[in-house]
Amino acid sequence: MAVREILIHPDERLMQVSRPVTFPLDAEVKQLIRDMADTMYDAPGVGLAAPQIGVLLRVAVTDTVWRDKEVRHDDGLPGGQRELKVWINPEFLWKSDVLATWEEGCLSVPETYGDVSRPEAVRLRWFDEHGVQHEQEFDGFQAVALQHEFDHLDGKLFISYLSPLKRKMITNRMKKLYKGQI
Ligand code: NI
Repeated sequence: MAVREILIHPDERLMQVSRPVTFPLDAEVKQLIRDMADTMYDAPGVGLAAPQIGVLLRVAVTDTVWRDKEVRHDDGLPGGQRELKVWINPEFLWKSDVLATWEEGCLSVPETYGDVSRPEAVRLRWFDEHGVQHEQEFDGFQAVALQHEFDHLDGKLFISYLSPLKRKMITNRMKKLYKGQI
């Protein structure tokens, strides 16, 4: 188990565009994926993108099923149930015109939440950790989580959807809270 340090906004590396992963995966990328899962579950979070731990590769992990039994028990799922998904070189093939608004948060912007409107459904193509290509449509919370995570791969945080004033307040708060660390 290797939990890596999660970068906090406004770290420059969170604003970079990540590069595609090449197959077959080398040992370093395989380790990266394991560490990303460990880091996400440890946080705890429902998603983590590689740039959040300072690696500029187009990889994200999510688990929208798992819930920490201490923190999240509102949906009645047994604590500890896991469904890790690995997303490599994801690509949106389609996004719905209909938008949905969800309150979002991010491990790189701790204790900060804001309403974000995004397409409520998306169709996606990606590779898994075995190099197998998939195509599938997602909606609801999964669609939100995936769009949020894949924004990270393009150097974009959810706070970029908020008003400039709110964004500035959040950035200032992060700078103050994490003084000396970022
Ligand atoms: Ni995030």
